[in-house]
Amino acid sequence: MRPVLEITNLNVGFPDGTAAVRGVSLQVMPGETHCVVGESGCGKSVTALSVMNLLPRGARRSADVMRFHDHDLTRMADRHIARLRGDKMAMIFQEPMTSLNPAYTIGSQMAEVLERHRHVSRAKGLDRAAELLGKVGITAPGMRLGQYPHQLSGGLRQRVMIAMALMCDPELLIADEPTTALDVTVQAQILRLLKSLQQQLGLALLLITHDLGVVARMAQRVSVMYAGQVVESADAKALFAAPAHPYTRGLLDCVPIPGKTAPGEPLGSIPGVVPRIGEGYVGCAFRDRCAYAAPACKGEIPRNRLSPDHETICTRSGA
Ligand SMILES: Nc1ncnc2c1ncn2[C@@H]1O[C@H](COP(=O)(O)OP(=O)(O)O)[C@@H](O)[C@H]1O
Ligand SMILES: [Mg+2]
Repeated sequence: MRPVLEITNLNVGFPDGTAAVRGVSLQVMPGETHCVVGESGCGKSVTALSVMNLLPRGARRSADVMRFHDHDLTRMADRHIARLRGDKMAMIFQEPMTSLNPAYTIGSQMAEVLERHRHVSRAKGLDRAAELLGKVGITAPGMRLGQYPHQLSGGLRQRVMIAMALMCDPELLIADEPTTALDVTVQAQILRLLKSLQQQLGLALLLITHDLGVVARMAQRVSVMYAGQVVESADAKALFAAPAHPYTRGLLDCVPIPGKTAPGEPLGSIPGVVPRIGEGYVGCAFRDRCAYAAPACKGEIPRNRLSPDHETICTRSGA
């Protein structure tokens, strides 16, 4: 089976010298949920925006491979990628108002997607919109179509965003922290919805989160990002059973474990912050926060293959 999305050695730099993404490789298989996890500032959004060709002006992107199905995204003209975006590859954001226009009704915005990509009539577009609102669990979809975004709660808006992303039957959905802005109950509902849609529609889902709890619920595969790099990638079961990179272990210590962590008890956390990395940086960017840091961590860091689908970059070879 070929991946829906394949990225090899993606690098993204900004004009101020920030190396935001450094040698990222990942693949998303059909029907699979691949989670990218890491603290804020690790390069998760920049990776996603690279795929969608939505990087800010001035950003420099290079990759050995960046392929969506048979489309070579490294060579495709901007206007051709724009045609895929919102069509066969769609993205949803943390803040639904990034994508929803406050000035238009829900129905009008959803129908417009289909008009643009499929040249169907407004009436057909509205039918499809109502159908999808129903599918994402919105009752009385007909009424909602006539409403404006500000008339909906945050959770409903996020459902509308998801429905809108599904208008053209995407094969790849990139969701960038889709539940971070929501309260815990609504967050659980949206995650359940994403999971069931993903299974029903056979979507390849690239789910970005800073929360390993979300990963545990959703992922088949995981890429852990730190300071622009994927420091560990693994099958989700292997990652939770035998996390190899000290950063992954640090993140896991922050996750409440049912039965072990008493409610209200403070969670472990990794002291320090994600450093901003400039071009030409050598060594492990986590070394200043790592309990196992050694002189070797200032040099080239080896890539260790712990099993056919479990890799990490660390001087401790994952031991
Ligand atoms: N437009 C920009 N100009 C300069 N640096 C940026 C820009 N956008 C993001 N960055 C930097 O790139 C790094 C990765 O950012 P981002 O991908 O948004 O992180 P994440 O999504 O993991 O929180 C951060 O250091 C961030 O400050
Ligand atoms: Mg982000």
